[in-house]
Amino acid sequence: MKQKISLRLIFILGLFCIYSVLCLAQEDMKFIKSPAFKTYQRPPAVFVHDKHNEKAGLYDCSICHHVYEKGKLVEGAMSVGQSCSDCHKVKKTTADMTPLMDAYHKQCITCHKKRKKGPLACGECHVKK
Ligand code: HEC
Ligand code: HEC
Ligand code: HEC
Ligand code: HEC
Repeated sequence: MKQKISLRLIFILGLFCIYSVLCLAQEDMKFIKSPAFKTYQRPPAVFVHDKHNEKAGLYDCSICHHVYEKGKLVEGAMSVGQSCSDCHKVKKTTADMTPLMDAYHKQCITCHKKRKKGPLACGECHVKK
């Protein structure tokens, strides 16, 4: 009888562990620090992914996770699962490929300007801890 209870306890504890691991895995990203840069002149950029996109009303993932074919944007196609640095390299590769830092800056700042919302100053994104 006693053994049965402790087995049940282990089972419940096990479920709890699986549950917490799943919750941790789903935790929102808080900032962007692409490993591609290797050295950093600035602190990581603040970007609380899900919260940012909810507040800004961005439900179409392809706005940021885009796909191009022969230099043309493919409407609605998404590259979720790929890092920006998979395509945009730190050093300029070809004349028509935006390098990584410019890719981040252009995507983030163009929209903030257009919508007159969101940070434009270096220190508002690259926040010192
Ligand atoms: C809207 C937000 C935003 C603003 C404003 C912004 N940045 Fe960034 N910047 C980013 C993001 C996102 C990255 C990628 C961060 C990373 O991977 O570490 C980045 C990367 C960089 C990098 C390359 C990584 C590094 O730390 O060396 C530099 C340098 C940089 N920014 C400098 C600046 C400067 C200077 C300004 C102001 C003129 C500025 N940024 C304004 C978002 C921003
Ligand atoms: C405002 C731009 C933007 C929008 C909209 C957006 N994302 Fe992202 N997402 C990013 C950036 C930037 C990164 C960091 C990528 C990098 O640095 O390589 C990222 C990373 C991710 C990651 C990697 C997870 C992680 O924590 O590292 C996933 C998964 C993801 N996004 C899924 C989505 C999905 C699904 C949607 C649509 C519901 C979406 N994103 C909408 C900008 C955006
Ligand atoms: C699957 C490859 C791929 C991924 C992943 C990708 N891009 Fe791009 N991106 C391209 C190509 C190809 C172009 C067209 C050439 C150019 O303008 O640099 C482009 C163009 C751009 C441009 C210039 C045109 C515009 O929209 O203003 C920006 C900025 C940009 N990407 C930012 C990003 C950011 C930020 C991420 C990560 C959230 C990202 N890209 C992820 C392939 C990709
Ligand atoms: C398509 C439009 C769009 C893009 C792309 C975008 N933002 Fe924003 N961002 C907004 C809007 C709109 C707000 C203001 C939201 C509000 O408070 O109403 C905002 C707010 C912010 C804020 C203020 C805090 C917050 O979460 O509300 C930060 C920090 C920020 N953006 C960082 C970034 C970074 C870094 C990128 C690029 C990786 C980025 N944004 C790309 C539209 C965008």
